[in-house]
Amino acid sequence: MTGITAAITSVGHYLPPDRMTNADLEKLVDTSDEWIVSRTGISERRVLRDPDKATAYMATEAARTLLAKRNIDPSEIDTILVATVTPDMFFPSTACLVQAELGATNAWGFDISAACSGFLFALTTGARFIESGRSKKVLVIGADKMSTIVDYSDRTTCILFGDGAACALLEPDEDGYGLRDYIEHIDGEQKDLLCMKGGGSLNPPSHNTIDAGLHFLHQEGRAVFKYAVTGMADVSARIMERNNLTGDDVRYLVPHQANLRIIDATARRMGIGSEKVMLNIERYGNTTAATIPLCLVDWEHELRRGDNLVLAAFGGGFTWGAAWLRWAYDGSVYPIPEHLAALSANS
Ligand code: ACO
Repeated sequence: MTGITAAITSVGHYLPPDRMTNADLEKLVDTSDEWIVSRTGISERRVLRDPDKATAYMATEAARTLLAKRNIDPSEIDTILVATVTPDMFFPSTACLVQAELGATNAWGFDISAACSGFLFALTTGARFIESGRSKKVLVIGADKMSTIVDYSDRTTCILFGDGAACALLEPDEDGYGLRDYIEHIDGEQKDLLCMKGGGSLNPPSHNTIDAGLHFLHQEGRAVFKYAVTGMADVSARIMERNNLTGDDVRYLVPHQANLRIIDATARRMGIGSEKVMLNIERYGNTTAATIPLCLVDWEHELRRGDNLVLAAFGGGFTWGAAWLRWAYDGSVYPIPEHLAALSANS
């Protein structure tokens, strides 16, 4: 370690304009608004309907909002990490596509595949480039066009997911702000509980893989739920214990938004009340790699320099982890984002 920490110094996002409500899903599958809200907390999600636009488009738009906010020229970015399980294509990586679209002429980068823990894993990976002194501006993006791998005839999964992208800029800090600690895990023994089997080198695309539905996300929800509740709560409690943080010290839990009940269980284990939990699953559903940075965007205006945040995620793989961040800037300099202002005006 150099004494340099990696601090988030700005955030940005992109949400597709089209909404898919629970009422819309009631027309597609045998479900109800009551079931979806009570089991998951989700009321609507965003869907990128334009077939010519995909994950790289959303990731680039998110990056553009971040750069514009801070008046940063794309040529200043030296590293681009994109967490996604819905890349535009296997290769080139989404990071390459974003780099070209942005005109980030001095950047290198790559994609990270860790499903719903993708942003967390990308953030801690990016932090290492900052801490080592190799990078000065790392763009960490979480983006997924989940609507392209969701089977809209499967009521157990189609109600859960939405499309979106959000990102954070990491820069060096010498005063101890930014990423302070993290714990991360993978467990491939449970690979079959949450996966997409088709399209890779094991099951390359064929009529058979299409007929068998292998190009859709598959989830055994009840089993995943049990692992997710324990995994996310345990790792969040452990990161607090080993850094002597109490519930009073934590300003916000920033949880991956898969299910309200998993988030509630994590908050209980951490000894914090619901007022300290960032929660926007109701509006966006599970956007996979984008959920955590989308929370940071929605709460940015409330965050103050020095606030302790615990980020926590659990996803397919399995992958899971938690990170402790000391927030590095005063978010009140930014107005409430337009998409939230419109929300309170409508309510
Ligand atoms: N509408 C109505 N009924 C439904 C629906 C629906 N949309 N979906 C399932 N049901 C039915 C089931 O068929 C079942 O009926 P049965 O009892 O007659 O068999 C009943 O509701 C209960 O089903 P469960 O699967 O037990 O429902 P559960 O309460 O577990 O909720 C859910 C399902 C929301 C998927 C939950 O299991 C969950 O959140 N799992 C974890 C998700 C997660 O964290 N994933 C990791 C991140 S995602 C990633 O990495 C890409």
